[in-house]
Amino acid sequence: MRLSRIVGLAALALFSTAALSQTIKIGFITSYSGLNGNLGPYMERAVRLYIKEHQKDLPAGVKIELLIRDDTGPNPDKARQLAQELVVREKVDLLAGVIFTPNAMAMAPIATEAKVPFVIMNAGTSVITTRSPYIARVSFTLWQSSYPLGQWAAKKFKTAYSLVSDFGPGHDSEEAFIKSFTEGGGKMLGNVRVPLQNPDWAAYMQRVKDAKPDALMVFIPAGKTATAVMKNFSDLGLAQAGIKLIGPGDITTDEELPNMGDVALGVLTVHHYSAAADRPANKAFVAAWKKEYGASETPNFLSAASWDGTDMIFQAIKAQKGKLNPDKTMEIFKAYQNANSPRGPISIDPETRDIVQNEYLREVRRVGANVANVEIETVGTAVKDPWKQLKK
Ligand code: PHB
Repeated sequence: MRLSRIVGLAALALFSTAALSQTIKIGFITSYSGLNGNLGPYMERAVRLYIKEHQKDLPAGVKIELLIRDDTGPNPDKARQLAQELVVREKVDLLAGVIFTPNAMAMAPIATEAKVPFVIMNAGTSVITTRSPYIARVSFTLWQSSYPLGQWAAKKFKTAYSLVSDFGPGHDSEEAFIKSFTEGGGKMLGNVRVPLQNPDWAAYMQRVKDAKPDALMVFIPAGKTATAVMKNFSDLGLAQAGIKLIGPGDITTDEELPNMGDVALGVLTVHHYSAAADRPANKAFVAAWKKEYGASETPNFLSAASWDGTDMIFQAIKAQKGKLNPDKTMEIFKAYQNANSPRGPISIDPETRDIVQNEYLREVRRVGANVANVEIETVGTAVKDPWKQLKK
């Protein structure tokens, strides 16, 4: 073969792989240090597992590149700076992740200015999705869990007290619970907001004990804080005083149950995801997780949202054959549906770009050698964010 022909063929080969290969860059921001620093990996692992299992479904030559960044916990300045760098310097196609509301709020204007679709995989304050037309949320809102919780609680308890972390999702949880609990005939004996980091738990629990409510409704960010709540609730003797601990599922987050031990038994929560749910799609998800990360590892609600969010991103990539246009991506996100998510049927509400999902009443029970959030009743079907529904 003549040299010029070989060079020509080589050039053709190079050209065609270049034409066929397309890398989708996802700027993934979550917490690997600071408050909830142990939760970042629960999100990242779900994204990686989904990509590993479904890479084969992407158009030929399309690859995903994850650019992972640590926002160091609730730190809006850091999150803003990281998002800015990812958008300007790395030219990411999408932003995703984010545990904390203040961080998501700080990133919203960047998504809008740069027209970069932003998939929220945790942060749950209702208002967030109104801050940018480029946001779609696959996780939850606190109104979604705490509003049906209050409706249910009003049928079971005469009086309640609420204790929440003093930031966006805590305010939402408190407001939603008080509204539905009192509208259902319940009486609030008090409501207290505590600092997000290191509150004096014993002092707050004593105050609740003295008020003698039938139930204490708590919201704190999931993770180690939930275990501190359990420990102090138990140490101060609130259960013995006849007070029932209830809340959104953040207070009995699946990965912390082994650290909480028996004090969590009997705690009742409303939430959209439990690792113990026996839906076939959840069993497959949990089995794949254990196979990949070890038999003693369990996904949590942050993992479930990150898994579903990656599925939504894959739908957008497939529908656009690997070439993402931000506005088309948002249209695809708005039409997203999955009848078979690990948490049950889900969709995105096209009007609000917020998740629509079922809410389950769960009780912490011993199941074999483990302690688990056992789903006992579906208290809401295809629940849209009540905050947005009530505001209309
Ligand atoms: C939030 O900041 O929106 C947030 C953090 C932790 C949770 C729920 C919501 O468990």
